[in-house]
Amino acid sequence: MKPAEQYYWILGCFCMALCCWSTSDTFTQSGIHPHTWKKLYFAHHWPVTVCKMDANDCHDPPKYWTIHGLWPDRAEDCNRTWHFNVTEIKDLMSDMRHYWPDVLHSSLNRTQFWKHEWEKHGTCAATLEALNSQKKYFGKAIELYRHVDLNGCLLKAGIKPSSSYYKMTAIKEALTRFYGVTPKIQCLPPEEGEKAQTIGQIEFCFTKELQLVNCTALEGGSNPVQAHLKLGTSELSVCNDTLPTYYPSEVQDRK
Ligand SMILES: *[C@@H]1O[C@H](CO)[C@@H](O)[C@H](O)[C@H]1NC(C)=O
Ligand SMILES: *[C@@H]1O[C@H](CO)[C@@H](O)[C@H](O)[C@H]1NC(C)=O
Ligand SMILES: *[C@@H]1O[C@H](CO)[C@@H](O)[C@H](O)[C@H]1NC(C)=O
Ligand SMILES: *[C@@H]1O[C@H](CO)[C@@H](O)[C@H](O)[C@H]1NC(C)=O
Ligand SMILES: *[C@@H]1O[C@H](CO)[C@@H](O)[C@H](O)[C@H]1NC(C)=O
Repeated sequence: MKPAEQYYWILGCFCMALCCWSTSDTFTQSGIHPHTWKKLYFAHHWPVTVCKMDANDCHDPPKYWTIHGLWPDRAEDCNRTWHFNVTEIKDLMSDMRHYWPDVLHSSLNRTQFWKHEWEKHGTCAATLEALNSQKKYFGKAIELYRHVDLNGCLLKAGIKPSSSYYKMTAIKEALTRFYGVTPKIQCLPPEEGEKAQTIGQIEFCFTKELQLVNCTALEGGSNPVQAHLKLGTSELSVCNDTLPTYYPSEVQDRK
């Protein structure tokens, strides 16, 4: 599928999902939907690439992979009365700023990003006892981030930001060898006249027991909520195994 086609296909799924949800909205608060999710996507993004997508308010992005979010695969906005309260995570604040920064809105009130993540995804993840408060949800994500240590893994594999290209398969194999599971890797497709894609996001999958699991397992079949997640980062899509892959060290490297 061409990226444009894929985009509209995703958009279609999203609209269909919206319709289904609106007819069954009355059940949401009774807890039917929140329990239907099967695994968690733990997304890391590469701030330099995120900045390339929208450089308006993005200055000096971190040069390490940061947290994007911890997302149940089939549920969102599970409890609209459970509001984000930054006081609940005040003990985590220095880790949050370092590992989970709002890359795109560094000059705005950073708590907006966390509020969005909590209300859309955290309220659904909270069906697990290990994640059933804001402190536990954000705290566990930071714990998983340290445990996964993606930055350390890539460094050990000799995969560093560079002006030359990587083979997507080489990156994928290095990660799979290191973790024993296959993550989902997303890229910015090549721009007009370019041949390389740009790596932007790496998602690890976890079971409800918080064990790493292949992102490929249990997939198959369309999944409206996943499609919606992709829409949230509309320019990123699953990397193409055959295209050269750029892992940029600077936002403007290729301009
Ligand atoms: C939604 O969140 C509120 C506030 O934390 C809580 O009192 C309520 O029990 C939650 N509702 C459900 C269905 O979990
Ligand atoms: C936010 O959380 C703090 C600490 O738990 C609590 O004292 C405060 O009442 C909460 N604020 C709101 C608006 O719920
Ligand atoms: C940021 O937003 C939070 C609530 O989302 C608010 O409590 C805090 O005062 C805001 N900080 C600034 C500097 O605007
Ligand atoms: C994950 O998938 C890889 C191949 O993609 C396979 O070799 C491996 O056994 C799988 N691991 C688990 C834990 O399912
Ligand atoms: C990957 O890129 C190649 C070369 O541009 C193209 O022929 C192929 O259709 C792409 N594959 C997918 C799954 O998009």
